[in-house]
Amino acid sequence: MTTEPAPSWSAYWEEPAHRQRVTVEARDYVARLRAALPLRPVDRVLDFGCGCGHAVELLAPAVAGIGYWDAAADMLRATSYRVARFPTAFPVDLARPSPLGAFGRFDLILVNGVVQYMGRDELRRWMSRWRTLLAPAGRIVLSDIPPPDASTVGEVFGLLRFAAQHRFLARAVRDGVTDAHRYSRQRGETCLTRWLPDEIVALAANNGLDAVVMPENLTHRAGRFTVVVQ
Ligand SMILES: C[S@@+](CC[C@H](N)C(=O)[O-])C[C@H]1O[C@@H](n2cnc3c(N)ncnc32)[C@H](O)[C@@H]1O
Repeated sequence: MTTEPAPSWSAYWEEPAHRQRVTVEARDYVARLRAALPLRPVDRVLDFGCGCGHAVELLAPAVAGIGYWDAAADMLRATSYRVARFPTAFPVDLARPSPLGAFGRFDLILVNGVVQYMGRDELRRWMSRWRTLLAPAGRIVLSDIPPPDASTVGEVFGLLRFAAQHRFLARAVRDGVTDAHRYSRQRGETCLTRWLPDEIVALAANNGLDAVVMPENLTHRAGRFTVVVQ
């Protein structure tokens, strides 16, 4: 029996079934982010783990500059394509030891829905690296982090509620049945880590940074959490 090859990471998220959801979710995330942490036109932002670039696209007109980086080359390509029209948006190659050039450091580093794909040592390394990329008084916002007790059933019902509010319930139900299987195939060997808020706070403290757990997550997934580090 032949197995259909798994779609690439970006191809998965760019499928019509996800495109609508991802677009609506990005609008919702950026609205919550801006309400919680107002942006200034002078701000320099880094979207770490930018995915297909929806948040970069929404933020680029509002800030002085927005760099983006993703571990997946196809995600970086998708973002570059999506935001090519914005002079404020630019890729940052974090594989290089000194990636900033003339741009300087960032006032805000966004890490939305990413740290669950990192192991504990990896996040420890990135926390220390992010610190070197932060401007004085800059902040790192780690959001949409699933804790150990995050309930899959709760997340599914939460997504259906969100889909109903944003008028894509029928599509969410239709696609939901096959999606879990396809997501796990696509994700392949990538680890999924559950974090306690206190672990993130301790990682920040180990780097001389203060961290505050926000009263609410910055996405519609109410069972997950957000930490602001500074
Ligand atoms: C669920 S998507 C979130 C995308 C985007 N931040 C958003 O809010 O829609 C997770 C993203 O994290 C990226 N990613 C996973 N592990 C990563 C790592 N170790 N370093 C950087 N990016 C990573 C993936 O390639 C993917 O684009």
